[in-house]
Amino acid sequence: MKLKLDKIRWEIINHPAKYKILSCGRRWGKSTLSAIFLLHQKLQAGERRMYLSPYHSQTKSIMFPVMKNLLSQNSDVKINETELSFTFSNNAQILLKGADNANSLRGISLGYDGSNAVVLDECAYIKENVFTEIVMPMLFDHNAKALLCSTPASFNHFYNLYMTGQGQDPNYKSWQFSTLDKGMISKEAVADAKRTMTADQYKQEILGDFVSIGGNKAVWNFDRNKHIKEPVDMPPVLYAGCDFNVSMMATTIFGVISDTVVVVDELYLENSNTEAMAKYIKQKYPQIKDTFPDPAGKARSTTAKNNHSDHMILKQHGFNVFARPKAPHVKQRLYDLNRLLLDAEDNVRLTVSPKCEKLIRDFELCQRKPDGSLDKTDLSLTHFLDSLTYYLNLKHSSYVKNINYAEF
Ligand SMILES: Nc1ncnc2c1ncn2[C@@H]1O[C@H](COP(=O)(O)OP(=O)(O)O)[C@@H](O)[C@H]1O
Ligand SMILES: [Mg+2]
Repeated sequence: MKLKLDKIRWEIINHPAKYKILSCGRRWGKSTLSAIFLLHQKLQAGERRMYLSPYHSQTKSIMFPVMKNLLSQNSDVKINETELSFTFSNNAQILLKGADNANSLRGISLGYDGSNAVVLDECAYIKENVFTEIVMPMLFDHNAKALLCSTPASFNHFYNLYMTGQGQDPNYKSWQFSTLDKGMISKEAVADAKRTMTADQYKQEILGDFVSIGGNKAVWNFDRNKHIKEPVDMPPVLYAGCDFNVSMMATTIFGVISDTVVVVDELYLENSNTEAMAKYIKQKYPQIKDTFPDPAGKARSTTAKNNHSDHMILKQHGFNVFARPKAPHVKQRLYDLNRLLLDAEDNVRLTVSPKCEKLIRDFELCQRKPDGSLDKTDLSLTHFLDSLTYYLNLKHSSYVKNINYAEF
């Protein structure tokens, strides 16, 4: 195989970030770059490096022949066709695996002295916990580096990784390329492919862009048939999520049954204040102790005449108040909500009572702006969505782990 490695490909391979995230269209050359990433640095005695794709069968049919081809000149290597491994005379190994059997990988230590040691290919299709719980610990011993590459799959965990790589954390660096930009197929072949795809598919599969199939809907996973349910049992403990606005005080009432957030009711008061809402919650649901308000209400009140903040008012009415010290980014809250509505394995972990008309309306009508934040132009929208998602982000966020939150 005659390889072409341009400046950008070398930049990715040699970049000092620990986690390198590469989002590209199909046939940009991600898998090929993955193989080079694992092979181009000298392997130390006993060192192990690993390639992982979503499925063992996929690894076997795609990466195994590529690696064999690249190593065909090397007489020093023993190939194990069953285990898909390459062992060198100094006992170093390249292991090719599938994430469908990821638990069997626990305990393996990868890399040597900061080497490029692991690839998750088509990472958007590998369950999030495989990277966080299984692969990350494998890199600790030797401070080894990972390449996470994929065609995007909507706004899932790979999108979050990509966004982290665009931020300030020096451990993460991300790149995005379209197949048209330094990709490995001709413009004619791309044009052919385009004819077989919807506009959204083309954006995702060829341009390597993050799109939600279904436009700019903020709650892209919501489906009336799946999520609107009259609760059969009342959750044993009920909570209130609150968003405070003069025009609309919005509260959602919910609880958890086994693994599922069950939203049972919504309360609202127009042209009112936090005080009145606190009383209203007490009157309708006297059993509620814990509230999950907008974190911004710690310091101020949108509605109180005296100097009391929204959180203080809730406490004065005997509620516990749980909120992050700082408001989470709305994109993160939307991600948490969408993931509970439908996760990568098709599990539904949030249902809504048909009573919650305003929340359902938010689910169906709220739109995202091009920067991913909520479009607030229609003043009647977003309040109920907000009131629920502060809680989801605090208690059910899968991405931001171990974050502390303020308890009052
Ligand atoms: N750096 C490269 N030099 C030469 N050919 C390449 C290179 N990268 C990829 N290719 C070729 O382009 C095609 C697509 O590459 P692949 O790595 O499978 O893309 P992806 O994983 O992004 O879909 C393959 O036929 C591969 O051999
Ligand atoms: Mg590939």
